[in-house]
Amino acid sequence: KKTIQVALLGLGTVGTGVYKVLQNQREEMLSKLGAEVEIKRILVRNLEKAAKKVEDDSVLTNRWEDIIHDDAISVVIEVMGGMEPARTYIMEALAAGKHVVTANKDLIAVDGKELLDMAGTHHSDLLFEAAVAGGIPIIRPLKQCLAGNHITEVMGIINGTTNFILTKMTEEGMEFEEALALATELGYAEADPTADIEGYDAGRKLAIMASIAFNSRVTFDDVYTEGIAKITAKDIKYAREMGCDIKLLGVARNTDTGIEVRVHPMLIPSAHPLASVKDAFNAVFVHGDAVGDTMFYGSGAGEMPTASAIVGDVFDIARNIRYQCSGRISCTCYKELPIKQIGD
Ligand code: NDP
Ligand code: HSE
Repeated sequence: KKTIQVALLGLGTVGTGVYKVLQNQREEMLSKLGAEVEIKRILVRNLEKAAKKVEDDSVLTNRWEDIIHDDAISVVIEVMGGMEPARTYIMEALAAGKHVVTANKDLIAVDGKELLDMAGTHHSDLLFEAAVAGGIPIIRPLKQCLAGNHITEVMGIINGTTNFILTKMTEEGMEFEEALALATELGYAEADPTADIEGYDAGRKLAIMASIAFNSRVTFDDVYTEGIAKITAKDIKYAREMGCDIKLLGVARNTDTGIEVRVHPMLIPSAHPLASVKDAFNAVFVHGDAVGDTMFYGSGAGEMPTASAIVGDVFDIARNIRYQCSGRISCTCYKELPIKQIGD
């Protein structure tokens, strides 16, 4: 029986989900892949805390050297979050010829091109389906399924935490702080929820999607962001009186004069399809010249939906390894389009 050995970096909300899915789907993966995917190592900070979450604590380590110097490990799954040491570990793994799957939008939205270039140089793959919209397949559709289109617009609800907060404030009259605490408890919020509240998380996801959809380099710094911290119960009440809901939307447009990327709260009619996207669900609209309008909808955050996206990426890489396919799934060949300043 063939075994593909992977390492997991981080055992928090998403890491625990990945561990569970890979354990629960062992047989399923074996039958689909003709090979077993085995978690050989899990990198954590606190060994004692992590030991309670795994069946066999001998897989745990707090030394990166145990992973990077282990040639039997061919795939590294990064779910620690943050810029460092995640960036260094991913670079080192790719340079060592290991494939990497990550959910880290902070990193991809800023250094995606450098990381993909590193992957290219070393014939490794770098996949990040989970970095945008949790469990919803959107990166692969933009990159592959819709490749025959000139995409002019990508827009939608791409942050589960803020959508959850706005839903609870609208429908249950919940206070902002109470709704945020609940979103954190449910594993939707980032380690520092400021990123969610201020629209930075949505901005990062929008930059990633715009880069792929418009085949240009769009980074987080290019995105105009405005969050929901100033939205009050009164604003929501007045919006409702006008037959509208308030939603935090991300909008990316590819126009004749350049790319426009912005995240901010918007009033939308309560009958609009986006108004029915509640709680931590996300929805992304994509317009392409051949396909017309498409919409992607599902769970945008949380342990198991995010793990679903990660394991999908692991599966693609494992299949390539299993059948010794030489073609890489990820690549970069961008043209550089101008970015419009909001207000121009
Ligand atoms: P958590 O904070 O729950 O988990 C992070 C884990 O990584 C913790 O176990 C933490 O250990 C560990 N960790 C952090 N730094 C190190 C380090 N230097 N060495 C070893 N272990 C480390 O975060 P999430 O699971 O929620 O998020 C992980 C990533 O997934 C982030 O990039 C996030 O943006 C992304 N993501 C999250 C989603 C979600 O719904 N939560 C959805 C989509 C993407 P310790 O507990 O000891 O601090
Ligand atoms: N904090 C993020 C959200 C997690 O709430 O959408 C999923 O990327």
